[in-house]
Amino acid sequence: MNIIERTWNSSLGKKYVMAITGAGLFVFLIGHLVGNLQVFGPPELINGYAHFLKSKPALIWGARLGLLACVGLHILAAVTLHKLNEAARPVGYAGKGAYGASKASQYMLPTGLIIAAFIIYHLAHFTVLLPFVNGVGDFAKLTTTLHGETVPDVYAMMVLGFQVWWVVAFYLVAQALLFVHLSHGLTAMFQSLGFRDHVWWPRIQLFAKGASVALLIGYSIIPVAIFLRLVGNEYVDQGRFKQKAQAAPSALIAVQGKEAK
Ligand code: HEM
Repeated sequence: MNIIERTWNSSLGKKYVMAITGAGLFVFLIGHLVGNLQVFGPPELINGYAHFLKSKPALIWGARLGLLACVGLHILAAVTLHKLNEAARPVGYAGKGAYGASKASQYMLPTGLIIAAFIIYHLAHFTVLLPFVNGVGDFAKLTTTLHGETVPDVYAMMVLGFQVWWVVAFYLVAQALLFVHLSHGLTAMFQSLGFRDHVWWPRIQLFAKGASVALLIGYSIIPVAIFLRLVGNEYVDQGRFKQKAQAAPSALIAVQGKEAK
């Protein structure tokens, strides 16, 4: 058995894998939020950013493969670790959960699996641009001109995408679950990496709470602000969506016609 196999086959090894892949995903979440918050600026800001990323295929595909590996290994380690724990404790505890386990820790597997389902939906919504999942129309037809080049209009896609109440509701539920998952997951990550002592532990707990709350607020204000027309309304009124609607399918025209009044 080589060292990789030995690490993977032990509980401790799986915890390391979860901690390291979880750290990678946490860094992605911060970067992704900073990128998305640009929707609060002029449309050119987020469109320019998205175009910049897409114009660097090595960077974007490297990041995508890294993310996929992190998500895959994180889930695999979580599920196998859960099975190992179940096998070691076949009878179960009399109370609601393991002694000393926080409420959040009991919800790690179910919240994690629902977040994974959200990511699949989210990829179909904003990356693969499947028209039937957004309740609006064909986002692939939303383009704009940037420095004389025709580029995807990510701003328009987000503003139109978050006019749909059930999409906004789903995103908010996913953010709430992500908060529950992170508030425990971040402390568990530091613990697995050996940072649990009386000096560091209170600071780690504070950091985990602060970071999960910041991500919850940051990710939630985007769909909420757009839905409440605090973002994008002016853009809609300028009639720029109307122009796009001419090239877009009927569902999109219906939404845009309503918006442009
Ligand atoms: C309000 C919340 C969010 C918004 C508005 C948002 C927006 C977007 C947009 C517009 C894209 C497509 C980027 C492009 O192709 O140009 C994207 C991609 C992605 N998002 Fe989000 N996102 C949000 C939350 C999240 C969360 C919570 C996660 C993870 C749990 C996540 C994970 C991803 C991933 C993995 C991609 C694919 C990146 C790629 O193109 O390879 N997003 N998001």
